[in-house]
Amino acid sequence: MKIEKVKKSNIPNIDFDNLNFGSVFTDHMFTCSFKKGKWVNPEIKPYQPILISPSARVFHYGQACFEGMKAFKDQNDKVWLFRPKENHDRIIKSSKRLAMPEIPEEIFMEALNVLLNLDKDWIKTGMGNSLYIRPFIFADQASLNATEANEYKFMIICAPADTYYSGEVRVKIEKSFSRASKGGVGYAKAAGNYAAQFYPTILARDEGFQQIIWTDSANHQYIEEAGTMNLFFRIGDTLLTAPISDSILDGITRKSLIEIAKKEGIKIEIRPIKVTEIIEAQKCGNLKEIFGSGTAVVVMPIIGFGYENMKYDLPKVENSFSTILKKKLNDIQYNISDDPFGWRVEA
Ligand code: COI
Repeated sequence: MKIEKVKKSNIPNIDFDNLNFGSVFTDHMFTCSFKKGKWVNPEIKPYQPILISPSARVFHYGQACFEGMKAFKDQNDKVWLFRPKENHDRIIKSSKRLAMPEIPEEIFMEALNVLLNLDKDWIKTGMGNSLYIRPFIFADQASLNATEANEYKFMIICAPADTYYSGEVRVKIEKSFSRASKGGVGYAKAAGNYAAQFYPTILARDEGFQQIIWTDSANHQYIEEAGTMNLFFRIGDTLLTAPISDSILDGITRKSLIEIAKKEGIKIEIRPIKVTEIIEAQKCGNLKEIFGSGTAVVVMPIIGFGYENMKYDLPKVENSFSTILKKKLNDIQYNISDDPFGWRVEA
């Protein structure tokens, strides 16, 4: 791999106490091209704009997918990745669905390791601090032919991160717009899945909600996910989360929380969740918690939700499941506790 290092790091110019999620990037980035059926020219170079033709197919037909992952630094300055193989598996699934070539695991992992080694000083120690890593693939072939491209770029960029949402989060259970449908691309981390959410989310924001809870596109009766997060509901002492389907992203944080909950003896049901079940539980005081999970948000408690022009507030609970699960997860990620699942990987 060709490596060109920066002459001078940008770290001294960064205010690490006031990071806006994903708006400051580390010194280096990784790029690799797909040409004539092969991944070629793997390269690490200073973070910089890229040159791309206006007719690149990604602009016109949207062939683009990405991953979100994080690296953490422990008290001994060791850097850890969390379940990176899962991210590679998922980018392969996303790429296949979007008719894009598969990035080999060796290139993905080597790029991550070299990049993290070069940019490790960007990762601050301390709970909540991490490096958000964004691998992505897009069609850069210059031509307006509306078929799958045969030239692509795979890149990795990294951003120091603290919290994703600052402030309280309320969500709206959506009844008209849909995020994904059966047979569609909802399970893929396709760039277009996010674009399609922005307009309905702007409307929800005007009503005082930060995010939307998407429901099934056929009847809007079943809970799916929240777009940047998978969802968990606590009714009484049972935790519920919807099963993964072709319209729900297979979140790595989601599946980790499920494993941790099982180990902690929390009763968890993975099954379709009816919206009416949530409303009824809320009305009779049984709905104790809703929280989202995702790489960027980690575990995000939701303080209230809206449905059919009604707004509901959730109670404040002691020893919430979200607090317990988040702590267990963070302790593994930051190398504070043992890792009985074997999820931590030293970079
Ligand atoms: C992540 O959690 O990594 C995501 O992909 C959500 C993102 C759109 C901020």
